[in-house]
Amino acid sequence: MKNPDFLIDKARKKALDLQVHATKKHIFLCCDQTNAKCCSKEAGLESWDYLKSRLQELELTNDGTIARTKANCLRVCAAGPIAVVHPDNVWYHSCSPDIIEQIIQQHLIGGQIVEEFQLKETL
Ligand code: FES
Repeated sequence: MKNPDFLIDKARKKALDLQVHATKKHIFLCCDQTNAKCCSKEAGLESWDYLKSRLQELELTNDGTIARTKANCLRVCAAGPIAVVHPDNVWYHSCSPDIIEQIIQQHLIGGQIVEEFQLKETL
């Protein structure tokens, strides 16, 4: 079923407002979970609040080039908070505010993976 045109227009306008087509990196953070498994709900929300406020302070979201999304669960469910940065498909564990700061500075701004906290492809 296709949505009515007025809703599609509404979605287009919001997407333009958010400058979604300019996004170069998008970080998803597991927090505020329905069933908190990778970390406590409080720890996830603390990291989310930090991420959101730092991206605003650094004016990294103003032009849409960096986006952030609160994810309910990223299915890893251990050693959280878990984050993933796309389109790089780089996954991180233990994303406390300190590690979020490293990810912002080193990965989102500098383009370098924070290897110490990366969930690598091999054990
Ligand atoms: S609860 Fe955080 S990844 Fe599943």
